[in-house]
Amino acid sequence: MGQPLTLAPLTARARRGLVRWRVGEIVARFRAGTGRKAPAAASLPLPNTAAERPLFALRGIGKTFPGGVTALADIDLDIHEGEIFGIIGRSGAGKSTLLRLLNLLERPTAGGIAFDGHDLLALDAAELRTRRRRIGMIFQHFNLLSSRTVAGNVALPLELAGASKAAIARRVDELLELVGLAELRDRYPAQISGGQKQRVGIARALATHPRVLLCDEATSALDPETTQSILALLADINRRLGLTIVLITHQMQVIKAVAHRVAVLDAGAVAEIGDVADIVTAPRSAVTRTLLRELIGDEIPASVRERAARLAADGNGVVWRLAFRGAVVDTPLLAELSAAHPVATHLLHGYIDEVRGVPFGSLVALVAGENEHLRAAAGFLAARGVRVEEV
Ligand SMILES: Nc1ncnc2c1ncn2[C@@H]1O[C@H](COP(=O)(O)OP(=O)(O)OP(=O)(O)O)[C@@H](O)[C@H]1O
Ligand SMILES: [Mg+2]
Repeated sequence: MGQPLTLAPLTARARRGLVRWRVGEIVARFRAGTGRKAPAAASLPLPNTAAERPLFALRGIGKTFPGGVTALADIDLDIHEGEIFGIIGRSGAGKSTLLRLLNLLERPTAGGIAFDGHDLLALDAAELRTRRRRIGMIFQHFNLLSSRTVAGNVALPLELAGASKAAIARRVDELLELVGLAELRDRYPAQISGGQKQRVGIARALATHPRVLLCDEATSALDPETTQSILALLADINRRLGLTIVLITHQMQVIKAVAHRVAVLDAGAVAEIGDVADIVTAPRSAVTRTLLRELIGDEIPASVRERAARLAADGNGVVWRLAFRGAVVDTPLLAELSAAHPVATHLLHGYIDEVRGVPFGSLVALVAGENEHLRAAAGFLAARGVRVEEV
């Protein structure tokens, strides 16, 4: 492994050129009507101290394209330094548009964006170029130059930034070592696999010491095993370099594997946002539940549903889905339920999984007994933090 990578300080020129506003001041400007649209009254409270200043702060962000398509509306979002922040949603939800706003490949038509405390929308062209160098990006289809070798692709942003030959050679070696491609440095993109291409993409994105790496469906063109290896590399880079990563995807397994927090986008709005363990184990929105179904397959098979309905009609039973997380996973829940209350349980369907060290699961069971005992059984389960839902 080469030298640990460090984030280079801003150049003196960039420092002079930057208007050093705090997020609060930017928003005060919006509110005073001297800037762009004031955030909606329901916007999140704004952090003011440097310690809690997010790397990106989006307030009341909207994007309507010239043709009239509104891709995003009233987005409030904070992305913190050092976190892996996931953005998930179905096709057309606005994920790529949101990501392109973060490096101003697109400009929002409403709201404000602060990057590291600076109003991104107020920067002039030269300042924006300097800022963009602090924002790396990788893509689903890698976007490598086919006429350049692996090393030549990684060198490109350094050449554009005017680095010396010696500095470029040093940095390229360091980066190829970091992504595990030192041996393939002289190959051309056509001579390497998709996973290797994405490693080149990652090395190239890190070349100019970015503060953040934006990933647009970076693993969607890869098979599951290669996806895991690229996600492991991103998690490793996040841990070792403390690099903030924003990951957009339509796959919950990508979020579950590496993200710390996630925003669920639905039709251009944030459906919910929070810690990945909370969103995965206790989704609140219908769209999150749909996206989770691909991951945990908690759809009850039709034949099981029919059998359950027959059994419930024959006896005095109800079909319950029990959702739980944490320590309760390690207890013999159904046995304890039957021991405490005269109800019979008949297991129909279930799974146990884990996200960020939190075990969680769901059981579907036919529970038979007198009404009063069923009510008491529901109370017993609720007291253990189990969510009971009639199916
Ligand atoms: N340049 C554009 N002009 C007009 N409409 C656009 C433009 N770019 C995106 N849109 C529209 O904005 C909406 C959101 O698109 P976006 O590409 O952000 O979705 P996405 O969540 O990334 O979808 P996918 O998962 O398919 O990549 C879509 O309705 C899309 O058609
Ligand atoms: Mg997209």
